[in-house]
Amino acid sequence: MSDSIRVTGGTPLKGEITVRGAKNFVSKAMVAALLGSTPSTLRNVPQISDVGIVSGLLRLHGTVLEYNVESGEMTMDTSTITQADAEQIANHAGSSRIPILLCGPLLHRTGEAVIPDLGGCRIGDRPIDFHLEILQKFGATIEPSIDGLHLKAPNGLKGIQHVLDYPSVGATEQLLLTAVMAEGITTLENAAVEPEIKDLIDLLQKMGAVISVDTDRSITIEGVKKLRGYDHTSLTDRIEVASWACAALATGGDITVHGAQQRTLAMFLNVFRKVGGQFEVGQDGIRFFHPGGPLKSIALQTDVHPGFMTDWQQPLVVALTQAKGLSIVHETVYEQRFGFTEALIAMGAQVQLFRECLGDKKCRFGQHNFKHSAVISGPTALHGADIEVPDLRGGFSHLIAALAAQGVSNVSGIGIIDRGYENFRGKLAALGATVE
Ligand code: EPZ
Repeated sequence: MSDSIRVTGGTPLKGEITVRGAKNFVSKAMVAALLGSTPSTLRNVPQISDVGIVSGLLRLHGTVLEYNVESGEMTMDTSTITQADAEQIANHAGSSRIPILLCGPLLHRTGEAVIPDLGGCRIGDRPIDFHLEILQKFGATIEPSIDGLHLKAPNGLKGIQHVLDYPSVGATEQLLLTAVMAEGITTLENAAVEPEIKDLIDLLQKMGAVISVDTDRSITIEGVKKLRGYDHTSLTDRIEVASWACAALATGGDITVHGAQQRTLAMFLNVFRKVGGQFEVGQDGIRFFHPGGPLKSIALQTDVHPGFMTDWQQPLVVALTQAKGLSIVHETVYEQRFGFTEALIAMGAQVQLFRECLGDKKCRFGQHNFKHSAVISGPTALHGADIEVPDLRGGFSHLIAALAAQGVSNVSGIGIIDRGYENFRGKLAALGATVE
């Protein structure tokens, strides 16, 4: 498929699409299968390149993996585990950060693991210090080498008491995937409790793990010696659903998203309504539509769950360029997540970035040189432009902007969008977009 598309904007997106499993859950669920002594089945798996990357990594480590794209059903038999070196892992992982989460399961199964230099979207420096600190506390040794980090667990892994400085999703998953078979009790305070993490806890419980989550976001895990495979259906990708909802708002359209789950979208739905969008929750999905008339500007702050998710911010900002008045967005999860607004400005949007925390709380980035607050003035007419996709979520937002703009836009580097949006070309066609 060509890496660029030509979008003729100005047509409202109307129609029905289906969104399947969550990119930020299925990749971890696949890694969790490595802990099982019997085969696992994962359902509702979307055909996105992140799934391809993790499939390659699991096969590299000896997993027999079958994936039926039509049914979305994936089976994984991890009874055989083989070692892989950093170069092989790096070749498979590409820019994915997933290899860091393989550590716990591989240390339990083989006593060693390797982390090549990691990639991931350039939305901040994406450190892994929380992860390494946790693995070392469990008893892993970490040897830096030219091709990455070599980990060993000569004396096995033992339960830990840990407090996260920041409720990191990845670090919470790192701890869960390691604690379930560590010897003894593990406790985690200030854990992330995103819906994807709750699904991972459900899945681990099915495997035989003993995990409890308290009201203060602390998690307790009692290590067990053996885990069996699971049969689990992924929750729907709430980031993709919200992205299409914002596309409906920005283009004045009407999109029914089959598979959308209200329980994972609560804060998004509140904001969508406050901006002036309307939605109807149906039996198997949600209809999002622009009721006509001006959109309303808002003040918004992103936060960890149950706050407004950082990945919902980029597509929403495109819709806010069409809202009447000044909108303010304070991004508190990543330090550099407004890079995508440059392209919006080139298309006619009025966006200004600030170092200050323009929200109701001081965040970690306030006293540094990070432009992590945005003020958007609207409505502004958007016109087509040549766009280079910067990262996954910013890239999809560029696509939304091109669809909302008058005229033609050439959007290049769209292969990145395949990482997290299943068959987005087919979905755009189903919604009546003019794309070549
Ligand atoms: C996950 O990233 C998601 N990715 C992100 O989605 C999502 O935006 C993020 O969680 C927050 O919800 C996947 O699940 C694959 P974090 P993750 O650890 O786990 C800092 C997308 O497009 N931090 O919660 O990497 C970090 O720098 C992606 O689908 C450390 O300082 O996010 C950031 O400021 C984008 N040290 C904050 O924590 C660490 O060791 C939140 O990161 C780890 C993280």
